[in-house]
Amino acid sequence: MSEMIIGAAKPRIDGPAKLTGQARYSSDNNLTGMAHAYGVFSTIAHGKIINIDTSLAKQSLGVIDIFHHDNFPDLYHTPSMMEQENKVEEIRLPFEDNHIYYAGQFVALVVADTFENARAAAYKVRVDYQAYSAIANLEQGLEHGDLQMQEKTQHSRGNPEQAYQTAKHTIDATYRTPVETHNPMEMHATVAAWQGDHLTMYDTTQGVVNARNVYAKVFGLSPDQVTVLTPFLGSGFGGKLWPWPNAIAAAGAARAVGQSVKLVVPRQEMFTTTGHRPETRQRLRLATNEDGKLVSVRHDSISTTSVINKTGSYVELCGGMTKALYSCQNLSVTHGITYVNRGTPTSMRAPGAASGLFALESAMDEMANTLGMDPLEFRLLNYANQDESQDLPWSSNHIRDAYAQAAEQFGWAKRNAKVGSMHDGNEIIGWGMDSCNWEAIQYGCDARVAFREDGTVFASCGTQDIGTGTYTIVAQVLSDLTGLPLDKIEVQLGDSSYPSGPISGGSWATATTLPAIAKAGRKAIETLKKYAILSGGSFPKAKTEDLIYEHGQLSDKKGKTVHFMEVLKARRLASAEGEAHTNGAHTDKFSFRSFGAHFVEVRWDPGISRLRVSRVVSAIDAGRAMNKLTSRNQIEGSIVMGIGMALFEQTEYDPRDGRPVNNNFAEYLVPVHADQPEIDVILLDYPDYNFNEFGARGLGEIGITGIAAAIANAVFHATGKRIRELPITLDKLMDIVA
Ligand code: MOS
Repeated sequence: MSEMIIGAAKPRIDGPAKLTGQARYSSDNNLTGMAHAYGVFSTIAHGKIINIDTSLAKQSLGVIDIFHHDNFPDLYHTPSMMEQENKVEEIRLPFEDNHIYYAGQFVALVVADTFENARAAAYKVRVDYQAYSAIANLEQGLEHGDLQMQEKTQHSRGNPEQAYQTAKHTIDATYRTPVETHNPMEMHATVAAWQGDHLTMYDTTQGVVNARNVYAKVFGLSPDQVTVLTPFLGSGFGGKLWPWPNAIAAAGAARAVGQSVKLVVPRQEMFTTTGHRPETRQRLRLATNEDGKLVSVRHDSISTTSVINKTGSYVELCGGMTKALYSCQNLSVTHGITYVNRGTPTSMRAPGAASGLFALESAMDEMANTLGMDPLEFRLLNYANQDESQDLPWSSNHIRDAYAQAAEQFGWAKRNAKVGSMHDGNEIIGWGMDSCNWEAIQYGCDARVAFREDGTVFASCGTQDIGTGTYTIVAQVLSDLTGLPLDKIEVQLGDSSYPSGPISGGSWATATTLPAIAKAGRKAIETLKKYAILSGGSFPKAKTEDLIYEHGQLSDKKGKTVHFMEVLKARRLASAEGEAHTNGAHTDKFSFRSFGAHFVEVRWDPGISRLRVSRVVSAIDAGRAMNKLTSRNQIEGSIVMGIGMALFEQTEYDPRDGRPVNNNFAEYLVPVHADQPEIDVILLDYPDYNFNEFGARGLGEIGITGIAAAIANAVFHATGKRIRELPITLDKLMDIVA
């Protein structure tokens, strides 16, 4: 059994709890005496609060208190809201003063006995503003003369300018991506409860330990005075990585009213105050020699960021993958930001890479067409033998195998390269392909494992399962290590009081958590052996090195075998524990990245102006797949999200006043079942043992990288129209006839 468990397609161990409603999400917690809070949100994007009149609202049924900048308890600033990564992304605290930086900013918070009463009263709070002109989008930001180049993120080698000037073939094109909003099924929610000076937060966070540290700083507490609990998350896509004002508002209000408080962010305000993928404008200049070998690559991107905190602005690193995906001696990547009156942007599934590869991989397709070369051949020709940006070998790179397997499965060889040449009835068929790419990161991690007297093994780690299957793969690792079936393994995550684990982000939770779990498991086995040799123990005369652990049992050389339950019982011990710390990967010897390829078929029906993605074949090289079911599921989900990015998703702001226009599910479109193509995922499953003992690099994000460009490339093949601005909506295609 044990040889097969790692990698096996096991259903999620938390599936039954979710299916039967036993799994408690943050807003499912209802504490005795709990009050409910509802926000009042700014209706202007830039300006000042002149007056807040709460008199009418205060008379409303069930109101306990109403908070705003004049009466909210003081909070402490944090040097960084992104503790674990040492990045600075300071999120402005709620209710600090009367300034308004974006529409949807919390301006007041009503606390009442019920949700309905809190909301009814919130609508009665009257806010008078003085509105200033708002910077509504990227172009307006640049018109304002605001362009801050991010020198530290730049990369340059060779002489790309000169190489471009003298090259045989060139492409110079500008691509745009709109704001996209994270739309996890579960809304941001907090139940904040104080017991004296101890704060407990039932919170929707992708990082319980980081959130705990942030809340401790904000409220002037030590970390052990705060507990953050997130046993289950209805996903987050990056939107729940770092604390936002809502959670802090709930905790501050709970302390002030002396009751626990529940605050759920309404769906509309999840478009304004809890992050988004920022707008980008990206100029790609590529040049090749006569044979199609890249001789110059320049990727200059600008992204929008919020005016809220100019010292710690979020930057979308669009050129992050461009630096090394293809071989090219002359290359430069720059990132600029411009300030707009929007809430702070943040990481959204494959930040930088999802937006950046739309531009790079569209430009690569344009270049292949210029060269009259098959786009797959063009990519193979420019394969990078090593990471040229760091001058390091790849830890493991099977992108050529990914191209080959996906192309074979897709039937790429049957493609007629001529635009608009492939038909099926009324539909024109387009085939496009491209590469995907994401970094692989592994951080330090702590974990605890215990053999328990009841015959179970217990593991705990202060990471969380965002829905990806973290519980399940931890259990698989322990099942493999202990030789016990999955139902004898209990995994507890999502509690900041457990040993420090990683945020569920950057696709690094798997690579970071599992080595610590395994190390703690091995230590627990050692502890068990130590107990066994004590006087009165199961093997009183043995040495630990003479004992062998296998399938839940200890045995000595003479063949005496004792189950671990008996070993513990013999000494009247509840458990044998192991706690371990593992370090991150060594990044000085290898460049760690994941790779892959997407092949896409679109169908364009010019008679009724209908575009759909009909088929996707993706091959992913992300190291070992720890669980084939959950791994495939991550890639499928990314592809669905990528279809949203390519065809539908766009958060729009009124250019006159910066207010969001479509912050609702009627007008912000996401792909639904009817939009789904046939999706084939090939997991290459080459373990990367340079990275960690499991050879797993992580799978949460890579699938969305490149997918939008693969679709745009297929649309070009079908229609001859190069769409350089996402999403590819029908209005951009409607003048195309058969
Ligand atoms: Mo991911 S965007 O780092 O949750």
